[in-house]
Amino acid sequence: MSEAGEAGGESGRSGGDPAAEAGGATLWHGRFEGGSAEALQALNDSLPFDRRMFREDIAGSRAHATMLGHVGLLTGDEVAAILDALGVVEAEIASGEMTFAVSDEDIHTAVERRVTELTPAGAKLHTGRSRNDQVATDLRLWTLAAIDEVSVLIRRLCQTLADRAAEADDAYLPGYTHLQRAQSVSLAHHLLAHGWTLLRDLDRLADARRRVDVSPLGAGALAGSSLALDPTLTAEQLGFSATFENSLDAVSDRDFVAETLFALSMVGIHLSRMGEEFVLWSSSEFGFVSLSDGFSTGSSMMPQKKNPDVAELARGKAGRLIGHLTGLLATLKGLPLTYNKDLQEDKEPLFDAVDTVRLTLLALDGMLAELTFNTEVMAAAADDPMAAATDLAEYLVTAGMPFRDAHAVVGAIVREALTAGAAAGQKMAELVTAHVDLGPEAAALLQPGASVVRRTSPGGGAPSAAAAQLIRFQEACSARK
Ligand code: ARG
Repeated sequence: MSEAGEAGGESGRSGGDPAAEAGGATLWHGRFEGGSAEALQALNDSLPFDRRMFREDIAGSRAHATMLGHVGLLTGDEVAAILDALGVVEAEIASGEMTFAVSDEDIHTAVERRVTELTPAGAKLHTGRSRNDQVATDLRLWTLAAIDEVSVLIRRLCQTLADRAAEADDAYLPGYTHLQRAQSVSLAHHLLAHGWTLLRDLDRLADARRRVDVSPLGAGALAGSSLALDPTLTAEQLGFSATFENSLDAVSDRDFVAETLFALSMVGIHLSRMGEEFVLWSSSEFGFVSLSDGFSTGSSMMPQKKNPDVAELARGKAGRLIGHLTGLLATLKGLPLTYNKDLQEDKEPLFDAVDTVRLTLLALDGMLAELTFNTEVMAAAADDPMAAATDLAEYLVTAGMPFRDAHAVVGAIVREALTAGAAAGQKMAELVTAHVDLGPEAAALLQPGASVVRRTSPGGGAPSAAAAQLIRFQEACSARK
């Protein structure tokens, strides 16, 4: 994936410099008498954002020129001259030396204009090609690389979750429903829950990737060509797994962008949910984690503050990702076949979504790697005897009582214990010990750490179950490499 920075800043554009406009006529100058209005250019130009696809554009042009040579539409010398010139242009753009002309509407125009300045054969580069199949090719290549890059970062976060889960050993905390303490679970179990969501994200991205991995090059503007093009050859040279079947579909399809944005939005939503938990856990009210200095911020006014900005931004960025997805879907919904300029609106949301997910993954990973789990605070919260109520009911079930009856028996004990206010835990222990169907053995379940170790059902919350799960999680991560 090409980076925007590599392609030089906005200042690389020549503005009104007539010298820089040499060879800078529009691509349609033969058909038009007048020049373009400034307002049209300002609205129409995509160079400021699509220049980051310059490597993909040049790769596409290399494949196209080579194919044209293969089918006899270019001579060997012409192909060689074009390939040389493409090498020069790539180096010029990468180094920031390239001067862009006012008429360089987009990266495709700019590259071809510069190639043609370097060699007359450049004027043949667009043979059998349109910017419509060209831009679709470039964006697919860019998206493939972006998916791979994001996937590496997701795997890294999975590994950090696995490392922290392994380290967590027998630590446990309350599990919540409705944000109310429910049943205690091991910390490893909780961390791995986030890990499995990320593995599904990896699968979603890999699945979307299969549909990105189709070459549209050779579709021309919309209808293919009367020339003897060989789209399979260009597809192979560019490393695509498949070639388009229908030229109309090839140039108008942006499902691959929408799907990628959806997969990235799901990543963002998962990071947001994780972020929200760390916001809660780092609050004084929970106190379950302490953030490292490197991954928290202070307050300009309140000297005592340490804020979980990374976690909050992980939560906040999800809104932006969802916006990009819904924005693109709205752009696509009314479009007739085939290419319409609306489609130029595909790139900015995609680029920003990839940048956003990349930054968020990196920061959240660092925050998670460095934070401290306050396992004593977690355990104290989980050791509330009330959290063992379900275990008491299950104790009665083991002795043969129907679960509904057991629920009622324990519910009545809880209700009575709560009348003791601050001493409710103590009262609960007394009531359980004295109960004819429960007794001292059942009361032992109320002891600190006693209930969590019993939840050993497959995929359950006991530390021993989580240890087995961790092995399966590591295997699942390796299987996705
Ligand atoms: N910059 C354009 C885009 O991003 C390239 C395709 C232009 N095609 C056209 N027929 N004007 O969509």
